[in-house]
Amino acid sequence: MRISPARRVRGEVARLPGDKSVSHRAALLGALAAGTTRVSNFATSEDCASTLRCLAALGVGLGRGADGSVVIEGAGRGPGVWALREPPGPLDCGNSGTTMRLLAGVLAAQPFASTLTGDESLSRRPMGRVVEPLELMGARLSTTEGHAPLRVEGRRPLRAITYEMGVASAQVKSCVLLAGLGAVGRTRVRGPLAGTRDHTERMLRHFGVRVGAEDEGGGAAGLAASVWVDGPAALEARDVEVPGDASSAAFLLFAAALLPGSELRVRGVGLNPTRTGYAWLLDALAEVAFENRREASNEPVGDVVVRRAEGAGPRRGGPLTLRGRAVAEVIDELPLLAVVGTQVEGGLEVRDARELRVKESDRIRTVVTNLRAMGARVEEFEDGFRVGGRQRLRGARLDSFGDHRVAMAFAVAALLAEGETEIEGAEGCVPVSFPEFFPLLESIVER
Ligand code: S3P
Repeated sequence: MRISPARRVRGEVARLPGDKSVSHRAALLGALAAGTTRVSNFATSEDCASTLRCLAALGVGLGRGADGSVVIEGAGRGPGVWALREPPGPLDCGNSGTTMRLLAGVLAAQPFASTLTGDESLSRRPMGRVVEPLELMGARLSTTEGHAPLRVEGRRPLRAITYEMGVASAQVKSCVLLAGLGAVGRTRVRGPLAGTRDHTERMLRHFGVRVGAEDEGGGAAGLAASVWVDGPAALEARDVEVPGDASSAAFLLFAAALLPGSELRVRGVGLNPTRTGYAWLLDALAEVAFENRREASNEPVGDVVVRRAEGAGPRRGGPLTLRGRAVAEVIDELPLLAVVGTQVEGGLEVRDARELRVKESDRIRTVVTNLRAMGARVEEFEDGFRVGGRQRLRGARLDSFGDHRVAMAFAVAALLAEGETEIEGAEGCVPVSFPEFFPLLESIVER
């Protein structure tokens, strides 16, 4: 993909494709519920298609409504009795870590064995983090040295446990909560929960499951130190409206915020606070407004408007530092924020972000490599990076490293650069989360 520099961004995105994380959860819970669940604005991402493909192989009835919504005939038949069918072969999760880790939690409580496989990148990512809690609950799992293929021998009922989670991961938290639906008693997850996305908790409540959060005095006021579900639980089918994907929106919003003379409105963006941790940085660059706020299926939604006046510099400077909880809230935006950091006064330092090394690529290494190729000053740490501020980027030949978010972050960098940029493999990987990205970006960019 070749991208030339842009003058500014102008326009409106009237309909943003549905959120990837919310769509996975709507599909999984719809499959377990009793009755028919209609999901509108279901994500167009390849990752969510992987979840649907796996559910179809597990015997879940899937269709499309006239308006494009995904229609799920749930397999649920009462408390803890989920009539999923033993799949005829391995379940291919593609590039999707969320599919593999969340589905493992569901499969742990099924009365059959199944095997989850993934592409080359997913097969390099750590699965021990879900093997441990699911084995403690009584399922039997095996991997190849902690990696996929992941075989899950389910057991019903599972044992309810209190799990002390070692990493700040919404996927691990969700895996354990989903398994907890098929356990007897209260299943609790504790550990570094602050800032991890809470879509599973919200969606479970939407499907009629009681989910508790406890502040055990361990965190700041209002921050849950543990979350729990009581099993065995019965889910009631519910229609779901998926909000626009806040992580996809970020690429477009920052393109506008970085280019003086820009004005962009993106409608129907999911505004869950565990996903919009980047808003303050957007606000440091440009004027930001949130309008038409409403709730959709237990998630906050609204329009985001970004304006940066012709000739205006950033509104505030740094140096900016991201650590701890603030990192969990922007975990998927960090490749983009590294690019943004090159444009703010004082630059940006990110620490406590070791998790980036085990995403779709080693995102510390791949981001640092590409920034350097564009002539930027950047320092690499084991758990993060520091980018110098107010730097002029040079157009360059870059690699996407097969990572959708790296490709999109550097497509935004290319708009700011001097000269043309080429990103190897971008068209191949961007559809993993945002197939409409390049046409949408071109439709709002002015040169
Ligand atoms: C996701 C959680 C995050 C995120 C991923 C989607 C989810 O992963 O990076 O893109 O839907 O739960 P971790 O929870 O492993 O950090």
